[in-house]
Amino acid sequence: MTICHALRRLLPAFCALSLACSASASAVGLPRIGLLVYNAEDAFMQTVCARIQEVSLGLADVVLMDGENSQIMQNDQVDRLLREGVDALIINPVDRTTAVYMTRAAMRYQVPVVFINREPLYEDLALYEKSYYVGNDPRESGTMSGEIIAAYFKAHPEADRNGDGVIQYVMLKGEPGHQDAELRTIYSVKAIEEAGFAVQILVEEPAMWVRTLAQEKMSHIIASYGDRIECVLSNNDEMALGAIEALKAAGYFTAGKFMPVVGVDATAPALGALKEGTLLGTVLNDAVNQGEAIMLLAVAAVTGDFTGFSYEIVDGHYVWVPYQMVTEENYTQFE
Ligand code: GAL
Repeated sequence: MTICHALRRLLPAFCALSLACSASASAVGLPRIGLLVYNAEDAFMQTVCARIQEVSLGLADVVLMDGENSQIMQNDQVDRLLREGVDALIINPVDRTTAVYMTRAAMRYQVPVVFINREPLYEDLALYEKSYYVGNDPRESGTMSGEIIAAYFKAHPEADRNGDGVIQYVMLKGEPGHQDAELRTIYSVKAIEEAGFAVQILVEEPAMWVRTLAQEKMSHIIASYGDRIECVLSNNDEMALGAIEALKAAGYFTAGKFMPVVGVDATAPALGALKEGTLLGTVLNDAVNQGEAIMLLAVAAVTGDFTGFSYEIVDGHYVWVPYQMVTEENYTQFE
């Protein structure tokens, strides 16, 4: 399977598990569930998919597909899986605003669909009683990351380098239009202001969730704004880690020169950066509970038996998994 070739390259253990699972599962007649990821190179989605695979053992036969960032390709994958008689679909849409196409396709086959990570419009979910979204509220993660920054400036008045009583910040944004990028951006700044600080944006750059892109953009930002930068807000950890690399190259994090940088996700490398004292804080995007809720919901929707499903289903369509703030005080709980 082409898709699995791409994933195997990136996720050896994960894909081996998928293939092994397919072979044994079909033998015992478990439901066959398509898992469509928007881009298998996304670090956070790799952890979510690995957890879905883990929970599926003994419950479902998972067929994994990589949309390679193309909605056209993902639509074809949906059509193909439906034609092949899949029992349910778990979809991490490439473009959440076009989920209606995939919802209608699933509806034609009366196959349940669980959207994940990229929230479809309510109207699209409402079209079909067997459509669901498992995710979280980006306002929460935005607020928590802003609170981490506010707490730091309260404890370290000298972090206001130019002493003007205003926090000058850089915003590294995820993919424009993604609910997490838009709302984390707004709510992180709002939380700093609500903590009593005046803020001034120096620059906002989209870096599409990608570490290398963020590193490159941050190098340019440092070259332009230098010491005027007082903190870096990033919509996810990968971009925060890219910013940290650029800051290191510019002499930060040695000889007492610090820059507060916050992210979201609490990935393993981010927890490593927290431990080494470069990342100030992050917010847990709970892949463990999301992965579990996603797989159990898909299976319940196939069998129609929701009695063992312990997560609350809100408004008939939504399962929300809360975020948690992660700082140097509590990060060891998440390692
Ligand atoms: C966000 C996550 C990002 C990225 C994105 C993909 O929730 O924080 O790191 O994975 O989803 O849609």
